[in-house]
Amino acid sequence: MAEPRGISRRAFTTRAMAFVGTIIGTVVGIPIIGYLVSPAVKASTTETWIPLGALSKYPVGTPTQSNFTLTQVNGWEKTVNSYSVYVLRGSNDSVEVLSNVCTHLGCRVTWHTKADEYICPCHDGRFSPTGKVISGPPPHPLTTYETKLDNGNLFIHVLES
Ligand code: FES
Repeated sequence: MAEPRGISRRAFTTRAMAFVGTIIGTVVGIPIIGYLVSPAVKASTTETWIPLGALSKYPVGTPTQSNFTLTQVNGWEKTVNSYSVYVLRGSNDSVEVLSNVCTHLGCRVTWHTKADEYICPCHDGRFSPTGKVISGPPPHPLTTYETKLDNGNLFIHVLES
């Protein structure tokens, strides 16, 4: 009796099905894995112009607090953060927008009209209306934002990473 040559029909069918299954799994699986993993490896940087409303609503010469929120998407995590800034409108519609984050250890400064200063509650750091350090441990002036006016509306440039 002669030995059968090659492989049996059953073995051939099994190998062919395994090969086709592998090809289909690869074609379908790689995009799915990419879709699932890519948000986690993407660097999330937010760079945007934040509207702070009409410049005319801010009084001239008095720092006025304004608030906004930023939504950051980091992988599958979505975070909404609230921020406060002080808008100092000068004459001739010049404007300066200052962060309320103390440059010492990051506490929130508040404007005190009677003292004519921003005061940090943590270590009594004090800043002038334009954010310069008057006294205390803060090593730098308050951070200022780049600003632009569009149809009388004030915008600040925010870059978060
Ligand atoms: S954190 Fe503001 S003075 Fe220390």
